[in-house]
Amino acid sequence: MIELRHFIERARHAASSADPEQAVAGLLWELLETPRPERVGQGDGQAERLLHHGRAVTVYLIRGEPMRRFPPHEHGMVAAVAMLDGTETHRFFAREPGGRLRLTETRHLTAPCVELFDARTIHAVEYRSTAPVLAVHVYLGDLLRARRRMWDHDGRNPSPYDQARYDRLAMDVSAETGPG
Ligand SMILES: [Fe+2]
Repeated sequence: MIELRHFIERARHAASSADPEQAVAGLLWELLETPRPERVGQGDGQAERLLHHGRAVTVYLIRGEPMRRFPPHEHGMVAAVAMLDGTETHRFFAREPGGRLRLTETRHLTAPCVELFDARTIHAVEYRSTAPVLAVHVYLGDLLRARRRMWDHDGRNPSPYDQARYDRLAMDVSAETGPG
């Protein structure tokens, strides 16, 4: 059984270990293998619930917002995603010499899976279905204090990450994906 406080404690320990990436990935796999009723706080319906942030690690519980696409951004630290239910679509970008982003890859992360992203990753997350999505996002550092950037959907206009702007730029993708 993984209880929330215990999970955070273990995430902090894993993030401070000699091999934090593998330790966090192992912990997340353990979470995925935990029977559903015993899983880390299933939440109260918030789209993003900050479970913990500290020097070593930040943990969010994510409920995907159906048919929403969020803008490209970086974290400036290693990130890990554990998919508990449903699918998150991640689009990855590279920076072109002029600074604009270029789409390099699109990946659909479907539960159960654990993925690690390196500290230079630039990505955009979207939910292309109305099916429920539940994920845990873990960052190896204090994401709330990190200096990091975000971009407009077209890969232009880099700016310091701003949560209000990030939320404001979220767009409906139902016209692109069709019903269901
Ligand atoms: Fe992200």
